[in-house]
Amino acid sequence: MCGIFGIVTSAETNLSEPLLGPTLTEAGRRLSYRGYDSVGCATLRADRSIDLRKDVGKVDQVASRLNFQEMRGTRGILQLRWATFGAPSQVNAQPHLDSDGDMVGAHNGNVVNTAELRQQFMAEGMVVRSTNDGECCVHAVERYIDRGEDFIAAICHAYVDLAGDYAFVIGRVGEQELYAVKKGSGLVAGIGEGFTCVSSDLPSILPLTRHVVRIEDGEIVTLYPDHVELHSVLDGSPIQREIEIITESMESAQKGGFPHFMLKEIHEQPTVAGELLHVLAELPEMEQILNRLKTARHIYFVGCGTSYHACILGAIYLARLAGRPAFPILAPQFSAQYGPALDQSDVGLFVSQSGETKDVINAIQVAQSRGMGILGMVNVVGSTLTRLSEAYLPLVCGYEISVPATKTFTNQVIAFLYLAMRLGGHPTDSLDQLPELMQKTLEHVAPQIEPLVELLAPRSDLYCLGYGLTYPIALEGALKMKEITYAHCEGMLSTEFKHGPLSAVDEGYPVLFSAGPEDTPLLVSGINEVTCRGGKAIVFGQDDPSLRSNADILVSLPPAGANLNGLLSILPLQLLSYHLSLRRGFDPDFPRNLSKTLTVD
Ligand code: AGP
Repeated sequence: MCGIFGIVTSAETNLSEPLLGPTLTEAGRRLSYRGYDSVGCATLRADRSIDLRKDVGKVDQVASRLNFQEMRGTRGILQLRWATFGAPSQVNAQPHLDSDGDMVGAHNGNVVNTAELRQQFMAEGMVVRSTNDGECCVHAVERYIDRGEDFIAAICHAYVDLAGDYAFVIGRVGEQELYAVKKGSGLVAGIGEGFTCVSSDLPSILPLTRHVVRIEDGEIVTLYPDHVELHSVLDGSPIQREIEIITESMESAQKGGFPHFMLKEIHEQPTVAGELLHVLAELPEMEQILNRLKTARHIYFVGCGTSYHACILGAIYLARLAGRPAFPILAPQFSAQYGPALDQSDVGLFVSQSGETKDVINAIQVAQSRGMGILGMVNVVGSTLTRLSEAYLPLVCGYEISVPATKTFTNQVIAFLYLAMRLGGHPTDSLDQLPELMQKTLEHVAPQIEPLVELLAPRSDLYCLGYGLTYPIALEGALKMKEITYAHCEGMLSTEFKHGPLSAVDEGYPVLFSAGPEDTPLLVSGINEVTCRGGKAIVFGQDDPSLRSNADILVSLPPAGANLNGLLSILPLQLLSYHLSLRRGFDPDFPRNLSKTLTVD
């Protein structure tokens, strides 16, 4: 996820222009936890020039290569870019200039009508230098400035033209202000001694000042050296807002008010799902990926851990919606199981949050040696997987800090569902309701989880069962439990339970069932096999009289079709494992013995 930072200083207090480079570089370091592939810095100079330096790479590398430290000016902008529109490249890195180079700006978020806007800007004679959506923000303002409007009016009009969720900061030579606007992406302003600043989030502001103003959607903030002013984008009218004094620590600020990254990331799922859907709809590589899958002899979905569970759900979606079989396979087993049968008419879709998992990279090498097509589905752009793939689907989750994968799993599943719908020729508009449904599910299940935590806290052994679309959800739910509660929790196909594990059941033994709406009768049998032996059947499913009367406890989910229900079913299991981890006295973000990225065999 991109990040922006802007600062306005009072030049009058210095004989020479302030050295802004070190402050901007430090802000970049503090935004870097969000994940990014490119870095850029611009300062607006007293001589009416703009010093713009940007490139692909890490903050410290780019800052030292381009010597950010020497950058001077009265105002400065820094941006970290996480590529969605336009490949990671120097020209697509931000900030961007307007046509004649006297304005500069940068954004965070997605401008989803970038393709249309670029055509319009070029037709209007503007100089468009990149394929990045951030450049559209600058030209959208330029368009109205060129028509003689003042900055506030120009931003109000640009806001109407720019579709999507974003925040951007912009300034012009020969003035003393910077302007920023918020629509869907985070934006906070800071007020310090002799400066004001604005940023995507607090960690880059708090080392400079603890006096902040939180900007709401539809508001423009104008930064002056000694104060900020707010205006509405509706009509430019002024808005009054009290300055807030932040007392919380830096670490808790990074967690956005949540006690752990895991909980923050669980609650980010509706937002990143929405961002993913925007990106998939505009992804330039989408046709290439669909064609590759359409024409492949055999399709393999390859991953490890959570990413593998998404692969299983992906294979189910592909068969249900596109009538195409696919083989989901654990990466280290790929060669052992299928090696001799692979050839150049096959395609592998390699799925990984980090894009660096050694087991996955090893499997890619096998696929390469067989001449197979290599596609990726990955969160970290610029990772090894993105470099080895002919084309990849970005998961656009931003940085996932907590070791247990949550938001990257749901976005993997959504990406698979989208691919299956497109391959099967189904309209994808039904997915538009997903972010809201996910939000509703989180709110609906949270109070139902609390009593379960008390019940399950003393248990160190349990099962998590599912069938059909909820089979991979049971595997994933069990993985979350094992990973952060340290209890032994086995995920299994519900019908397999009677073939052996049922012998573990005695009085009070907990068995969790993830129930899809299509499979209720089958699951009811499984539930009774447990309850009639004294076991405790805890069911996660849509409200249904037969589930309610057969289960000991029903955690009800909001109604949704079977495909979406499959996806939503993981949310209560994520929340349950998080709260159980805390109740058992562990840190869910950093479970013992585990690492977020496994770059070893
Ligand atoms: C799940 O919570 C894990 N952190 C783990 O299973 C993870 O999904 C696995 O190690 C694969 O990682 P990747 O997606 O980065 O390849």
